[in-house]
Amino acid sequence: LSKIEVKLSDIPEGKNMTFKWRGKPLFVRHRTEKEIATEVGVNIAELRDPQHDNDRVIKPSWVIVLGVCTHLGCVPIANAGDYGGYYCPCHGSHYDASGRIRKGPAPLNLEVPYYEFIDDETVMVG
Ligand code: FES
Repeated sequence: LSKIEVKLSDIPEGKNMTFKWRGKPLFVRHRTEKEIATEVGVNIAELRDPQHDNDRVIKPSWVIVLGVCTHLGCVPIANAGDYGGYYCPCHGSHYDASGRIRKGPAPLNLEVPYYEFIDDETVMVG
C-alpha cells in the first residue's frame, strides 16, 4: 500500500507504535508535554543534522518518522537511549524524541515522510 491511515486514538500518550508502510517500519509517537518542551528547547546549533522540532512535526503531540536508522538501516528501539527518543542497537545511535540524531554513527535524523491529518483522530501517511 502506498498510503496508510493511522487511527491516533489507539496510541496512548508516551507510546510509540510501529506500522508497516511501503515495506518499511513507520513510527507514530504520541509525545508527552514534557517531551515536546524538551525537543522544542533544543539548541539546533548543537545538532549534527540541524533541524528545529517545529520543522519535523505538524502537530507537536505527534512525531511520525521512518523507523530506519540512517546509519545502516536497522530498526531503532523506541523510548530508549540517552535522549529518550530512539536507540539503534546495531552500532549505538541515539535519537531524541523528535527523531533527531544526537550521538553515535548515524549521519542524519530519522526521515519524516509526507503525511496529513484527515481529522483529529486520523493521519494519512504517504
Ligand atoms: Fe543504526 Fe548502525 S544501523 S547505528
